[in-house]
Amino acid sequence: MNNDLNYQGSDLMLDRLPLADVAKEFGTPVYVYSASSIRRQAARLMRSLGTIGSLRYAVKANANPALLSLIFSMGFGADTVSRGEIQAALDAGCPADRIVFSGVGKTPEELAFALDQGIFINAESEEELAAIARLQTGAHVGIRINPGVDAHTHQYVTTGTEETKFGIPIDAAPDAFRLAMDAGLVPDTISTHIGSQITSLEPYRKSLARLVELRDSLMSDGIPVSALDVGGGFGITYDEGADFSVEDLQALLHRDFPQGIQLSFEPGRYLVGHAGTLVTRVLYRKRHATTFVVVDAGMNDLIRPALYRAHHAILPVTRRDSEPVLCDIVGPVCESADCFARDVHMPLPEQGDLLAICDTGAYGWSMSSTYNSRPLLPEVLVEDGEPALIREHGQ
Ligand code: LLP
Repeated sequence: MNNDLNYQGSDLMLDRLPLADVAKEFGTPVYVYSASSIRRQAARLMRSLGTIGSLRYAVKANANPALLSLIFSMGFGADTVSRGEIQAALDAGCPADRIVFSGVGKTPEELAFALDQGIFINAESEEELAAIARLQTGAHVGIRINPGVDAHTHQYVTTGTEETKFGIPIDAAPDAFRLAMDAGLVPDTISTHIGSQITSLEPYRKSLARLVELRDSLMSDGIPVSALDVGGGFGITYDEGADFSVEDLQALLHRDFPQGIQLSFEPGRYLVGHAGTLVTRVLYRKRHATTFVVVDAGMNDLIRPALYRAHHAILPVTRRDSEPVLCDIVGPVCESADCFARDVHMPLPEQGDLLAICDTGAYGWSMSSTYNSRPLLPEVLVEDGEPALIREHGQ
């Protein structure tokens, strides 16, 4: 949970600012972010993984320009997956030589744009390698390897097993590296990303062991691989408990892996997930077989519960002391999946009350849509107790 959210009396505060004040000033629904939460997560990453490699923020988690500027100002590069994300990173001040371009389906135009800008590409197929070689011989590239490791996360966000579309299977990797060399490229990086919201070290241990073995065999075949991009995926807690231990991953790499290889990491959720809160207002209550609390945010604003049955804690912005009841918190969109939480045990909110949907900084706004012709939500950044509008309503 976001450590910057806490109650003062019955009021839920973010960084000393009552969330009710933010809702009053900017309306609802609204995404509210805490700068201090992002700074704290960034510092933790820098103190651990940052001491053994470079850190590149996965822009897809949240591409708000103000957040990007904040993150790049703390020394992070960028992991991007489209021309739009590359442009957003450049516009927010990330130097081109700290940007990597990933993704299974880069268009020829996107590849040409990235190469022109001097941006490093992680290729995901033999045909993509050929396309890069046609555009620029001599380009240094990474090859994304699918290590065949199950990260034990939601099936929609697991990416390191052979049934998924990502990367080149590890058995085919030596041929792909050879093909890249023969085509005049310089494939000097093994890249990987085995999934998202990973909560234990084990999948990383397995995947890294396989990739180090691959590197050794490439080196002995005369293919000099100097870098390993470990990807992201570091999970956070959406309830009680602890986040993934980036310190343990650092220790593992430090202890068990060869020196002399440049490491990089691509965290997204870890940096921004806790920082965001979606503040929404109760429109109606319906008390029949199920008690529904209908709020003004919908699945178009936050799709994670509908898409992955993801859990986000929901807190009242003003605490009431009536007896808790069981209720479902639902949005206004015309789909039964438009439900943020089922069987929540809380004092029944009144009409007009505000609720805070927690830990929505990652893959919240960035996955939102205008479904049901609903406008995109405004975003507010709270820094030192002061709120600033960082995205206008409907843009
Ligand atoms: N690197 C690559 C190549 C990726 O594809 C991703 C995420 C990341 C890094 C960052 O992963 P993170 O550290 O944020 O786990 N929409 C889903 C998550 C999809 C992640 C896609 N790739 C969700 O809401 O849980």
